[in-house]
Amino acid sequence: MKKGFIFDLDGVIVDTAKYHFLAWKKLANGLGIDFTSEQNEQLKGVSRVRSLEKILSWGNKTLSPEEFSELMAKKNDDYLSYIAQMDDSEILPDVPKILHYLIDNEQGIALGSASKNARAILEKVHLIEKFQAIVDGTNVSKAKPDPEVFLNAATELEIQPKDCVVFEDSVAGVQAANAANMISIGIGSKEVLHEADYVFNDFTEISIEFIEDIIKK
Ligand code: BG6
Ligand code: MG
Repeated sequence: MKKGFIFDLDGVIVDTAKYHFLAWKKLANGLGIDFTSEQNEQLKGVSRVRSLEKILSWGNKTLSPEEFSELMAKKNDDYLSYIAQMDDSEILPDVPKILHYLIDNEQGIALGSASKNARAILEKVHLIEKFQAIVDGTNVSKAKPDPEVFLNAATELEIQPKDCVVFEDSVAGVQAANAANMISIGIGSKEVLHEADYVFNDFTEISIEFIEDIIKK
C-alpha cells in the first residue's frame, strides 16, 4: 500500500534552530531585548512574522510597519549567511536511512515546512531530489496549526490525508497533522509532543519494522 510521508524541515531533517537563534538574538539584542534559548524554543514552527511579533512583545517594543519589514529582511539576511555553509553533514542522524527505505518501497515523500528558505536548505544538504512534492512558506497562506501545509502536500502527492504520515518537531506542527486527519509522529520530547500519535527522540529510535507497520496500517 502506498502512503504519503510528509517531513517538516527545521528540527526534523536539519537542526537549523541554532542558526535561527543566532539571527534572532542579534536582532533582539540590537533592540535592547534579551533573547534566551528557552525563548528560541518557543519560536519552533512559528512563522517569521509571528516570531518577530513575539520577540517585540517580550521586550515591550513596538515598531513602525517599515521598521518591522526592514528588521525581518535583516534577520533573514543574517540567517542566510549562517546557513550558507550548510552541507550534508548537517542532516540529522538516520534521516537518510528512512528516506532511502521509503524510496526503495515506492512510498510518497513530501516536505511540509513553514520556512521560505526550505528549498535552498534542501539543496545545500543535497536532499531536494528525494522529495516528490515541496510545500513551504512560499506557497501556504495559513500557518501551522492550520492543516493547510500538510493537506496541500497530500494533494500534490495525490494521496488521501488519512493515508499520510507527518514527522514534526513542533507542537503547532503536530496539531496541524492531527487536524489534517493524518498520523502524527513527533520528533522530540514526549512531554512536549504528547498530542502526537507516536513520539521518538530522533530518527535513530525509528526502526524499519515500525515504518513497515505504518505502511501496512
Ligand atoms: C519553521 C521554523 O520551520 O520555519 C521557525 O521552525 C521559522 O523557527 C519558520 O521561523 C519560518 O522560517 P523562515 O526560514 O522562512 O524564516
Ligand atoms: Mg520544525
